Amino acid sequence: MIDSIKKIIKNYPNNEKIIIKGWIVSNRGNKKIRFINLNDGSTVKNIQIVFNELNFDLEEIEKWKIGSALEVQGIFKLTPNAKQNCEIEALSAKNIAPTDDNFPIQKQEINLETLREIPHVRHRTNIFRSIMLIRSTLAKEIHNFFESEGFLYVHTPIFTTNDGEGAGEGFVIKDDIKNGFFPKKTTLSVTGQLHGEAYAVGFKKIYTFGPTFRAEKSNTKRHAAEFWMIEPEVAFYTLKEDIDLADRMLRFVIKNTIEKHPDEFQFLDEKSNFKLLENLNKFLNNKLKVIEYSEAIEILSSASDKFVEKNIKFGIDLATEHEKYLVDEVFLSPVAIINYPKEFKAFYMYLNEDNKTVAAFDLLVPGVGELIGGSQREVDIDKLIQRIKYYNISQEEMQWYLDLRKFGDSGSAGFGLGFERLVMYVTGIENIRDSIPFPRTFGSIKM
Ligand code: 4AD
Ligand code: MG
Repeated sequence: MIDSIKKIIKNYPNNEKIIIKGWIVSNRGNKKIRFINLNDGSTVKNIQIVFNELNFDLEEIEKWKIGSALEVQGIFKLTPNAKQNCEIEALSAKNIAPTDDNFPIQKQEINLETLREIPHVRHRTNIFRSIMLIRSTLAKEIHNFFESEGFLYVHTPIFTTNDGEGAGEGFVIKDDIKNGFFPKKTTLSVTGQLHGEAYAVGFKKIYTFGPTFRAEKSNTKRHAAEFWMIEPEVAFYTLKEDIDLADRMLRFVIKNTIEKHPDEFQFLDEKSNFKLLENLNKFLNNKLKVIEYSEAIEILSSASDKFVEKNIKFGIDLATEHEKYLVDEVFLSPVAIINYPKEFKAFYMYLNEDNKTVAAFDLLVPGVGELIGGSQREVDIDKLIQRIKYYNISQEEMQWYLDLRKFGDSGSAGFGLGFERLVMYVTGIENIRDSIPFPRTFGSIKM
């Protein structure tokens, strides 16, 4: 088996023979010696291969282009006094898959907008290598976290007949009910929550992690039509326990991911306009701030001249500009806002004693805004029916959900974490289109 470059760089014995495969990142040198940097996607770092004139026709090697796949046999050398701490002295090498002149990734840096036009090759740049390596580890660490807390991993359906958020944002599968595949109107799921709630009654602690689809016509840096969402649901939990769970999960996942990717974080940290690692560590080392929605309104109304939407009073939904102001200018750290007015929150949220607010929270983070939305769920069937009517949701379609309350459901709480927004927060990348391999957003889909 051929070791990955990540492993080789870390601990390969000096002067040992080695075989390596990867793609050319750079090729430089002169008539006597050439240096090819090779990358195999296991790390943002490259390994330098040294070709000398005794063993190779250097004029031939000079023709090998960036992006080509190489197989190299050589001797591994530790080089503690050089810029990179190791290299491979090539004994033989084959260009197994040469690139042609059109390979778009070359030495000079390409901006993110241009790279968005070529999602099939953009991951062969350092920035996307770093983002996608971190994305992969974040996903694994999320599973590790829930495993460590004894959660059941449940696969909630993608086709559904329920509009789980009651916001009418489901992509419809087939309108023609008579000739369609399913006997009723079916959409792609906007959330796994309702089905997750059914499983929380019986399994107690469950989570889903799956693709989510929303036909929101918002062309912003943080909305995608297809994204991944993590949704835990825990029976008997209250809002406070729900927020604590979100907090624990974020700390576990971010801490472990930083530990596993020192080179990728170093690369991104140097690239970011702000102090990426310092900010993440600040979150890890401090207690999460929790404030009431009403407090958020007070803070915002005292700065109302800063916003396009200036009419700030109890009852308004917070706009992106408000959320950004709170995290980027007031708190400079993640903050959870709790107890929102019921008017603009989903039907399933627990109505507080005041009859005005629901036991919900949004967790906002710097640079992104809303990362998590969650709540304690309503258990009182009559209140649920009232809310369903208020939002014009079909009670018939929700009957199974209402029935849960008659079958041993004493209440639960859960949340939804937008996975791409987590990738944005952790990597410092500013546009959701750069946090997912093949983005689908309003008005845009490639390949
Ligand atoms: O706040 P949302 O709509 O909450 C729910 O879906 C609940 N059912 C969650 C639950 O309680 N189980 O969505 C949850 C999170 C948001 O905070 C956001 O991070 C992300 O999902 N999200 C999106 N991410 C990317 N593109 C979009 N269009 C998104 N819409 C929501
Ligand atoms: Mg939300």
